[in-house]
Amino acid sequence: MSEPSRASIRYLSCGRIIEATNFEPTATLLDHLRLTRGLTGTKEGCGEGDCGACTVALGRLVDGRIVYRPVNACILLLGQVDGADVVTVEDLSEGGQLHPVQAAMVAHHGSQCGFCTPGIVMSLFTLYQAGEEVGRDDVLSQLSGNLCRCTGYRPIVEAGLEACGSRPDHKPADAFAARAAETAAKLAALDDGTDVFIGSRDRFFAAPASVDALASLYAAHADATIVAGATDVGLWVTKQLRDLPKIIHVGRVAGFNAVAIDDTGVTLGAGATFADSRAAVAAIDPDLDEVWRRIGSEQVRASGTVGGNIANGSPIGDSPPALIALGATVTLRQGSATRSIPLEDYFLAYGKQDRRPGEFVAAVRVPKLHSDQLFRAYKIAKRYDQDISAVMAAFRFTVDTGFIREARIAFGGMAATPKRAAGAEKALVGASLADPGSWGMALDALAKDYQPIDDMRASAAYRRDTGRALLEKALIELAGETTTATRVAGFREASDERVA
Ligand SMILES: Cc1cc2nc3c(=O)[nH]c(=O)nc-3n(C[C@H](O)[C@H](O)[C@H](O)COP(=O)(O)OP(=O)(O)OC[C@H]3O[C@@H](n4cnc5c(N)ncnc54)[C@H](O)[C@@H]3O)c2cc1C
Ligand code: FES
Ligand code: FES
Repeated sequence: MSEPSRASIRYLSCGRIIEATNFEPTATLLDHLRLTRGLTGTKEGCGEGDCGACTVALGRLVDGRIVYRPVNACILLLGQVDGADVVTVEDLSEGGQLHPVQAAMVAHHGSQCGFCTPGIVMSLFTLYQAGEEVGRDDVLSQLSGNLCRCTGYRPIVEAGLEACGSRPDHKPADAFAARAAETAAKLAALDDGTDVFIGSRDRFFAAPASVDALASLYAAHADATIVAGATDVGLWVTKQLRDLPKIIHVGRVAGFNAVAIDDTGVTLGAGATFADSRAAVAAIDPDLDEVWRRIGSEQVRASGTVGGNIANGSPIGDSPPALIALGATVTLRQGSATRSIPLEDYFLAYGKQDRRPGEFVAAVRVPKLHSDQLFRAYKIAKRYDQDISAVMAAFRFTVDTGFIREARIAFGGMAATPKRAAGAEKALVGASLADPGSWGMALDALAKDYQPIDDMRASAAYRRDTGRALLEKALIELAGETTTATRVAGFREASDERVA
């Protein structure tokens, strides 16, 4: 870490700078708000990112403009809010005047016991601040991480549509819009590019500001826990009650969340959130848009990172199968040394990844599809939103005059790691998309490629049958498709129509 580092975090609250120091490395934002600051409007329901009762908005500067995103304060570490505008439900009704979102909730009778209401209001607040004209699907998606046990969703959705559904120029300017320039200037001033280090050598919260500082700090403390969005790590704190004495947060590392598109692919910095990288991956294939859209909820996508989804080594993470099928590589860094490996080689065994002490995930490179390549990805879960996969499947076929020249198939939830289907891939070479009779060997081979387990999400038999059905589904769908270029161009046109 460069000297001198800052021994506190600072964030904005209603235009005031709040400074916090000497806090426990794993202190949560929710406890800070409720217990330290007495802001009890933000509620605690599940404590694990599922119910949204604890939703607050974090505003950060993006290209000079403040973008507000909803986050689950229960699993967000306090240190993660350094440099942000933290908006809680108490801030919305300045001077006793209800925010338009609150007024709509009242008008539509969107609250009964009221426990979920602050979280719902804060989720809708971030949609309101986005300033776009939104429809019912957008409101539903925005509320996918907010549960209400008593009101029923119809009045809540109607309130969301009334407050957020009108054209941007028809939305009444709220206090946040009125002081946006002032807030932006304050946020810019908070971004001092200084490393943050709070605590001692044995117990600390650190947030390096550069990748070099991150590399040297992690090399010196290979036993530290890296935290990106904390949508996994936060639960180790709140549910497993784990003591994590050394936290290295990567959210302040300059450039770590970069998303770059070039002619041959997309490079995602490990710190890029699902929200920030969705448009870039959607440009590769519409199915990636859908995979990203179905990760958790709006709150989880706002905090959770692609790097965290890979680094955690989970066999049921949604992005790895899709990225593996596309031929992605992961770049790892240890001290000043970097290396890139095919993503599938990163996953060695259950809970074991090819990552050395002090080494971290730096970036993922995702190649674009060539015009002779076809892609499909499917997530199978019990619910559309806010649910972990039972099975996640992704397929990339390189096709020559209707015959498969190369196949890349990857599944999640079918083995101890995200894994390619070596036997099925081999058996598909030479198969004709037009002739289902030529697919049989590959469909049978899948049963040997994977020995799935029984667990609460699905039985082994269900997973085996589903895997086979998804491969068949992909082949049937792709048999009717001409080229990837047509599909992606079609998707873009459809997206343009949606926002036009
Ligand atoms: C309610 C809820 C719903 C969810 N739904 C889904 C879902 O639908 N699909 C899905 O796939 N996941 C889901 N998840 C899991 C989680 O959101 C993802 O795994 C997410 O991508 C984790 O990213 P993060 O940045 O929050 O990681 P963190 O929690 O910060 O870290 C996760 C792990 O990765 C390590 N790590 C993070 N970044 C790096 C790095 N750069 N280098 C080395 N190690 C690193 C951490 O040390 C930790 O071991 C859900 C979680 C919640 C709470
Ligand atoms: S308390 Fe349920 S998501 Fe935070
Ligand atoms: S109003 Fe009671 S839980 Fe939503």
